[in-house]
Amino acid sequence: MSELDKLLASCLYEIASCDDLKKLDQIKNAVFGKNGKITEMLKALKGLSDVEKREIGAKINAVKDTVNSRLNAKFVELEIALQEKKLASEFIDVTMPTPLHRGGTIHPLTKVMEEVSDIMVSYGFVLADGPDIESEYYNFTTLNMPDHHPARTMHDTFYTNMCADEHGRKLLRTHTSPVQTHAMLTHKPPFRFFAMGRVFRSDYDATHTPMFNQVECIMVDKDVSFANLKWFIANFLKKFFAAPNLSVRFRPSFFPFTEPSAEVDMNYEIKDGKMVFGSGDKWLEIGGAGMVHPNVLKYGNVDPDIYQGFAFGFGLERMASLKYGVPDLRNYFESNERWRNKFGFSYVTR
Ligand code: DAH
Repeated sequence: MSELDKLLASCLYEIASCDDLKKLDQIKNAVFGKNGKITEMLKALKGLSDVEKREIGAKINAVKDTVNSRLNAKFVELEIALQEKKLASEFIDVTMPTPLHRGGTIHPLTKVMEEVSDIMVSYGFVLADGPDIESEYYNFTTLNMPDHHPARTMHDTFYTNMCADEHGRKLLRTHTSPVQTHAMLTHKPPFRFFAMGRVFRSDYDATHTPMFNQVECIMVDKDVSFANLKWFIANFLKKFFAAPNLSVRFRPSFFPFTEPSAEVDMNYEIKDGKMVFGSGDKWLEIGGAGMVHPNVLKYGNVDPDIYQGFAFGFGLERMASLKYGVPDLRNYFESNERWRNKFGFSYVTR
């Protein structure tokens, strides 16, 4: 066996049994590098005659080509293997639950909705629902705001370009109060309902977003009184804010759908830069309330000579912001991961 044949055999053996890119590089260097075996052989051609050069040179080149192509093939093979190994080690099963340490969080709004539901249900209220796309009839008329009533302009309403029907133009509901009518029309009194959901108004700054959420509440019975309303709201807020000493103040106000109407405030003070509810003599508005207007009962097929009721409506983001210190309403809907990690809640410890 000539030296060249031996070199070829040993090179092919080494390449075939190599399983590492670095080692393969060393093999390549040992053959083709500056002092590599084939490089040396080619250098040695210098001292030979032209005939020998041509004959031996051709043989060396043939070995060179074979070794080269085997080397290249092996490089590709090892690179693919490395990549596959890496991919296998980085495999993520997207169907697995998110790992806790970097997982999703419960949105503060969801958390507050659950807390509000728990309280309302504990007082015997049943969850009611209504559509986001309402008609003028339910959003305004049944709430004692007839056509051209100035109160209709109190809300900057988004009207849709959908066809109007016997209930007037279609719009994005500006409050959850129309759910009161839907609930009354589908149930016989006495009843207690609450509703939570999106409402829409054309408004945008740090404390207003074009979409936000409200909780609505209505209780109808033969002897429901304003005192009941005040007691219930005070207890609801005490529970929600976990502040047993919370004071609630009713300020006379106007809503077309309630008579009398009130704006509801609760007391607070600032301690160490934080709002503390239930102590101090500062007052903060939390929503509107009142006794359901007889006309609203009539639109809901409830006889106002037999029944009366109370109702209130609060902003849910506002409640969440106050309870959990979330600034700027706009962040609620931007789905920023850092914001969610800061203000969201773990789905395990809640
Ligand atoms: N619908 C009112 C609003 O969006 C809030 C409200 C006030 C609801 C008084 C009520 C109520 O049920 O009695 O501004």
